[in-house]
Amino acid sequence: MTFLSATLDRVKPSPTIAVTTKAAELKAAGRDIIALGAGEPDFDTPENIKAAAVRAIAEGKTKYTAVDGIPELKQAICAKFQRDNALTYTPAQVTVGTGGKQVLYNAFMATLNAGDEVIIPAPYWVSYPDMVLLAGGTPVTVEAALEADFKITAAQLEAAITQKTKWFLFNSPSNPTGAGYSWDELKALTDVLLRHPHVWVMTDDMYEHLAYDDFKFCTPAQVEPQLYDRTLTVNGVSKAYAMTGWRIGYAAGPELLIKAIRKVQSQSTSNPCSVSQYAAVEALNGPQDFLAPNNALFQRRRDLVVDMLNKAPGIVCPRPEGAFYVYPSIAGCLGKTSAGGVLIDNDETFATALLEETGVAVVFGAAFGLSPNFRVSYATSDAALTDACTRIIAFCNGLHDAR
Ligand SMILES: Cc1ncc(COP(=O)(O)O)c(C=O)c1O
Repeated sequence: MTFLSATLDRVKPSPTIAVTTKAAELKAAGRDIIALGAGEPDFDTPENIKAAAVRAIAEGKTKYTAVDGIPELKQAICAKFQRDNALTYTPAQVTVGTGGKQVLYNAFMATLNAGDEVIIPAPYWVSYPDMVLLAGGTPVTVEAALEADFKITAAQLEAAITQKTKWFLFNSPSNPTGAGYSWDELKALTDVLLRHPHVWVMTDDMYEHLAYDDFKFCTPAQVEPQLYDRTLTVNGVSKAYAMTGWRIGYAAGPELLIKAIRKVQSQSTSNPCSVSQYAAVEALNGPQDFLAPNNALFQRRRDLVVDMLNKAPGIVCPRPEGAFYVYPSIAGCLGKTSAGGVLIDNDETFATALLEETGVAVVFGAAFGLSPNFRVSYATSDAALTDACTRIIAFCNGLHDAR
């Protein structure tokens, strides 16, 4: 009898966390490292939100709460969905968890049986396939190529649906590509789903507020109201409000599903941190005016990174609609040898050689299910981004054909 669960054999640890850890180790050893691996804003949680948390502590709101969220937060979430997405939900249709990550995981635990398939566009956020596997389901990936701006087509979705499909997992703007689906692009996908009433939609709207130029965010139940009864709309405060450490995510959907998610949570973690819930109430109900300047800042950084990376020989970097990531291709670097003598035969060797030889930490594309690429998180200072891109250009200039 083996000690560890066989379930664990099906999954791998998060490669993004592995890269961040490796970069931190090198830094601790005295190396000059620029980490472009982390998926979190580099600015602090707004003061009004922190003050709400301090108040909650002072008022003794430090005890267990209702398993899936305090009523004030559920009200604030309903108001947010109405305000931002024109979606009407009641508090009984809302669940709050320890980050969007827990809500997604709970939803899979609550619904997947052996053999159930989940359609996941690739490249995808690293945790999706592994969460599905942990919950006993089968991930089915559909490739969204760079040439298609990292978006899948209606025909691809149609072709991936089988009788076993339980969920279509949608994420726009996307981690790792930043790609955002327009209303018409999303409508083409929801039209397909209308023809397959057994398929539910799980939409991860975590990057809703990080959208640039004239891109307008939209979400499946808003674009196609007929999908309302089989859509779980997931969101959270981590990215827009710089609250990654507070661990509050939420979702809204049919009551039957919300109750099932609550059941999973009630027997695992119980309520998300009480103090963080009060902070999240302030995040959602309080002033939203810092979002626009933050977006302007991120948009400028996106342009800086895209413009510089496209100067690196062998790299092609599209300009995405949102989030704080770009996902350049390194197809033009394959088969070459780095100045340090490493043969670049895939995106993992590229990322490893880049880190070793220049000190720039990025995450290789294979981790996200589409190669040969790498992900840059531009949620860091202009100076660090300029320095990192200068090093990447130098690294690519140093690539040569094997002698
Ligand atoms: C696409 C996507 N969904 C969900 C999450 C989870 O966010 P959290 O658990 O912090 O709410 C992340 C975090 O990186 C993400 O990139």
